[in-house]
Amino acid sequence: MNPIKLSFPGKKVDVPIYIGENVFDKIQSLVHLKDYSSILIMVDENVAHHWSDRINKIIGDDMPILIIASGEKNKSLATVEKIWMVLSQKQFDRKSLIINIGGGMVCDMGAFAASTYMRGVDFIQVPTTLLAQADAAIGGKTGFNLNGLKNIIGTFSAPVAIISDTSFLSSLPTRELNSGFAEIIKHALIANEELFNGLLKKLPRSPKEIDKMLSLSTHIKCGIVKNDPYEKKERKKLNFGHTVGHAVEMVCQNSITPLLHGEAIAIGMIAEAKMSVLSGHFPKKKFKKLEALISKVGLPVTVNSKYKKAIAEKILLDKKNVKQQVKWVFLEDIGNVKVDVHLPASIVDKGLNYILK
Ligand SMILES: NC(=O)c1ccc[n+]([C@@H]2O[C@H](COP(=O)([O-])OP(=O)(O)OC[C@H]3O[C@@H](n4cnc5c(N)ncnc54)[C@H](O)[C@@H]3O)[C@@H](O)[C@H]2O)c1
Ligand SMILES: [Zn+2]
Repeated sequence: MNPIKLSFPGKKVDVPIYIGENVFDKIQSLVHLKDYSSILIMVDENVAHHWSDRINKIIGDDMPILIIASGEKNKSLATVEKIWMVLSQKQFDRKSLIINIGGGMVCDMGAFAASTYMRGVDFIQVPTTLLAQADAAIGGKTGFNLNGLKNIIGTFSAPVAIISDTSFLSSLPTRELNSGFAEIIKHALIANEELFNGLLKKLPRSPKEIDKMLSLSTHIKCGIVKNDPYEKKERKKLNFGHTVGHAVEMVCQNSITPLLHGEAIAIGMIAEAKMSVLSGHFPKKKFKKLEALISKVGLPVTVNSKYKKAIAEKILLDKKNVKQQVKWVFLEDIGNVKVDVHLPASIVDKGLNYILK
């Protein structure tokens, strides 16, 4: 099968991304597992619950499996240390391989552990959520949370391969699936109006439809990462919706109704698209289309007004800011964005007011 290729600076060989229903079953022929001295399989606990028999059958039940407790709170130094301990206790050497099977949490953290153990061993990403297949597993960012700050410790590191098997999505709760759609909408919004209109016309639900959508979305992300792997300019486009979205996500995380990442990003995209309209660039009609698509997926579009002050404060702490200046990603049209835009405080305020309920 023909993979999508993701290029990385300093890497002679592009990273192949295999997308498709049951593509994980071909892992033995896609990657030379026999070349490795030892292999550790890291699996998210919910994925293990649904799929451990299949994973054992395909990779072999004689390999060590480390089950990672799910949840963002476990994306921590303590878990990373546990992974390093297992690797050292089992005397894994430089020719070892780690296979990360799970959502963005396991992929990010497993990749971090692999990229630092013995100054870096090979790893494969097997993302099992739509969000990780569309976004988290692609692009080489690894990391974990510290001191309440998301992904504050991390590396850039390329996997040997990315295997996005959409059959894993059959056990994913609908809310998690919808959260993944937010990143795909973002990719369409910043680079491909045709994909955007296609989603609006019919939301993919069957594995075949999801495969096609995921391939288009992956091409967009790979194209951007290839041009700007270290986020100097173009890669910033991928932050659309994330300045407000991350603030909303952080502010709501300890509430009784915490939001999933994609849910917060959906709200963030509405706010930032509204700011683009208010600045007189993004056409109102297209903004309405974005609202319609986000609602069609079942993603939220508003946040409780009591959080407004806290959201505004968090925006000022965004790790993408330079000298406390917020750099916005700005929509000119569907498929066309500008980065590093300064927006007047009055427009930011109106954009935030729009998402309050
Ligand atoms: N590296 C990047 O560029 C990047 C980009 C976006 C997000 N992220 C990170 O990704 C994480 C969010 O990813 P996520 O949404 O995949 O979250 P997640 O990994 O926490 O998974 C979400 C939930 O789905 C469960 N799950 C996973 N696969 C399943 C399956 N097939 N069936 C049933 N349940 C399953 C998990 O146990 C968990 O409860 C965050 O930590 C975020 O920081 C990283
Ligand atoms: Zn995101």
